[in-house]
Amino acid sequence: MPVRLDRSRLLPALTNRDALDARVLDAHRRVLVGETRSPEMLGWRSMLAGGTVPELDAVLDVADEIRDRADVLLCVGIGGSYLGAEAVLQALTPTFARSGPEVLFAGHHLGAAYLDELLAYLDGKSVYVNVISKSGTTLEPALAFRHVRTWLANRFSDADRRIVATTDGARGTLHRLAADAGWRTFTIPDSVGGRFSVLTPVGLLPVAVAGVDARALVAAAAAEADALTTADASHPALLYAGDRFALHEAGTSVEILAVMDPRLRGLGAWWQQLFGESEGKEGKGLFPVVLQYTTDLHSVGQYVQEGRRLFCETFLRLADDDAGPTVAPIAGDPDDLNDLAGVPLGTVNARAWQGTADAHAEGGVPNWTITLQRLDADAVGHLLYWYEHAVAVGGTLLGVDPFNQPGVEAYKGKMYALLGR
Ligand code: PA5
Repeated sequence: MPVRLDRSRLLPALTNRDALDARVLDAHRRVLVGETRSPEMLGWRSMLAGGTVPELDAVLDVADEIRDRADVLLCVGIGGSYLGAEAVLQALTPTFARSGPEVLFAGHHLGAAYLDELLAYLDGKSVYVNVISKSGTTLEPALAFRHVRTWLANRFSDADRRIVATTDGARGTLHRLAADAGWRTFTIPDSVGGRFSVLTPVGLLPVAVAGVDARALVAAAAAEADALTTADASHPALLYAGDRFALHEAGTSVEILAVMDPRLRGLGAWWQQLFGESEGKEGKGLFPVVLQYTTDLHSVGQYVQEGRRLFCETFLRLADDDAGPTVAPIAGDPDDLNDLAGVPLGTVNARAWQGTADAHAEGGVPNWTITLQRLDADAVGHLLYWYEHAVAVGGTLLGVDPFNQPGVEAYKGKMYALLGR
């Protein structure tokens, strides 16, 4: 099992936790049999039943073409139409000097200078565009795509061949634009919400272009879904969901996801959206926040250790104690580091995790540790499904609808009114 959960620094904070198991199992059963709120939105689970997902072969064919012909794939999307691909790319492709097309993003904010700088950077390069929006109407990607589309048409005689639209199969402005222009399209199933869509063409095309083994990613998620079908209350995803609920009911307000490797940061951002949008409604939910340690121990670490007691915390780490350069001894020990001679950087990081987890537990921050045995498509695929299932169970335990996001509309309404729309 590539995903391991350690609850040893959490259990002392929970009383009578076992009594919750029956409720957790009932919520889990409701996810399995479709008795949640919005049961029509459980497609992220059912689509994996055959061990693969719709359109995967076609996605991989288009990815091959883009890998052959493009210097850059520009993905235009926001929220669930962006974060999953970014998460997998950060985790599974090299930070520096990756081979194959560069995968860049636009439409994920309204920063005024970004598009100009991006398009200037793209000049002279062979560019493909993957515009991703389930609704097909979200303002941020729609505005960015309008610029990008014009830019593309002014530079490439085969511009329409270079645009791939991932959107609703029947409705929406983007669907209509794609049909009118004859762009290639992939479908986001009706039954899969944006934040659950990483294993649809939304996430799979960008990551396959970057060279990630998308088939292995999907197979691992399907294996995890399958394992959960027959799981009992001791499955780590169910333990995690139950523990979070217990802490929530006891008054905890915030869950920190502390990633111990920068390659895991994107998974943290994806988790943050998944849990924030799924649980944060009707006055309920743990506020999810991702931190990167040890970097953020030198910024908000003080608050986590000694500030207002709001938190529980998950450490997300790799079992890579032997990895990285080993500290070399230097004659005379000029920088006072010879006591660490022979120690790999991975071991220093592992001790940082252990020490921080102990200190935070002692400081009143109960914490779990999730350890990935490897950082590969198999482990990430397992983890993605693990979290999706946990949030579906967690939202069901809270009594909220884990699959809607009515609160996102509030800012849009005000913004549109101010824009005179
Ligand atoms: O999870 C969600 O549904 C949202 O975060 C959406 O993914 C996000 O708002 C983007 O929506 P769309 O794909 O319709 O442009």
